Amino acid sequence: MTQPASASLPLEHLLPITAGLSPEGHLTLGGCDTVELAREFGTPLYVYDIATVEEQCRLALSAFRAEHEDTEVLYASKAFLNRPFARLVAGLGLGFDAVSGGEIAVLHAAGVAMNTVYFHGNNKGPDELALAAELGVGRIVIDNLGEVALVEAAAAAAGITQGVLVRVSPGVDAHTHEKTTTGILDSKFGVPITSGAAEATVRAILDSPHLTFRGLHMHLGSPIFELEPYVMGIEVMAEFIARLQERLGVAVREFSPGGGFAVAYLNEQHPPAWAAYAQAICGTLRREADARGFEMPHVTIEPGRSIVGRAGVALYTVGARKEVPGIRTFVSVDGGMADNVRPAMYGSRYEALAAERPLAPAEETVSIAGKYCESGDVLIRDIELPHLHAGEVLAIPAAGAYQLAMSSNYNLAYKPAVLFVQGGVAVLARRRETAADLMALDAD
Ligand SMILES: Cc1ncc(COP(=O)(O)O)c(C=O)c1O
Repeated sequence: MTQPASASLPLEHLLPITAGLSPEGHLTLGGCDTVELAREFGTPLYVYDIATVEEQCRLALSAFRAEHEDTEVLYASKAFLNRPFARLVAGLGLGFDAVSGGEIAVLHAAGVAMNTVYFHGNNKGPDELALAAELGVGRIVIDNLGEVALVEAAAAAAGITQGVLVRVSPGVDAHTHEKTTTGILDSKFGVPITSGAAEATVRAILDSPHLTFRGLHMHLGSPIFELEPYVMGIEVMAEFIARLQERLGVAVREFSPGGGFAVAYLNEQHPPAWAAYAQAICGTLRREADARGFEMPHVTIEPGRSIVGRAGVALYTVGARKEVPGIRTFVSVDGGMADNVRPAMYGSRYEALAAERPLAPAEETVSIAGKYCESGDVLIRDIELPHLHAGEVLAIPAAGAYQLAMSSNYNLAYKPAVLFVQGGVAVLARRRETAADLMALDAD
């Protein structure tokens, strides 16, 4: 039994929408007591709240379709994917953005309609392109001129005509971390307009008998807390759309502004609402289309983080404590960079809660250290928390995206279990790895 989320539950806007308190005062998610879940399934444990995923999918669809009915939402699989999650998201009316043969295989195995899958990547292999052609992937997003011949060859071999988009780098800085900015010219992704490469790529597609040019794509980076980069990017793309129409007589029937919609990781962060992103993107595109005389294209957006980030909470068990007088106190947990590499890789910051007593006041400043053999394995530097005891459960919100998806077996860590919670019921969506799993692929 749980009480509804009380107004005083801290970090409420970072936690899943069903977050609440048990009668004992424990943090609950989807009606399940997180402390009990940690005891039953072990930690590190990733808990996904289904109601939050459902709400984000519904909001993304409704906000964009209110601005432009002809919009499709493709979930960016790279944020987090397994078969149960793919089935959930497909059932909510979303298509998928995939970036590898592995993601395509999981989507196919989950029973996803493959014509709703868009295949991205700056270096798709011939085997991946052959798989995509064989399974009937809806669109290939061509990333460079050289790829045109590869996609043409795969389509010809499969005896199909493949719809393609071209990913363009519009030269816009989205003010994200250097490692997650993708729309600038100095990026491995996309063809630049200014060098003539983007137009040459479209020409090559038009000359390819097994390819149909459908339109253009951009993705600026992630997470993007501002609307302005989308506006600027679309203005650049619109000029190019008009140029293609004028010079090659070709229409851009589909346009994607990519993903990158932000979620809050820190208490002080408040990302734009879905409606604000939708207005900025569709409003700018329509204004440009009217001004430049092209038809409003079919729009596909590719949110990953914003669909699944807030739904996930990572649970850890607190262990060792090291006090370095006058310098820092480290409190170690039983996970770290193997299940969440974002702090080490991007300097990402998080909040945390004591799951048994989320209302307890802060008593000290500590750094939450991971357990892996890297000094950089610190999940949270300098956070104010109640004095944590060994054995208690620590919850880190906004853990749903790019954590498990980027997880590793570093130090031969077992990848954590994944639970889906809803209506007081927890379902194991992926079991925790075992030593046998770690050795399963080795020669004896
Ligand atoms: C092409 C493309 N689309 C969509 C996304 C998803 O971004 P986000 O999870 O921030 O929405 C990415 C992220 O890397 C991407 O590269």
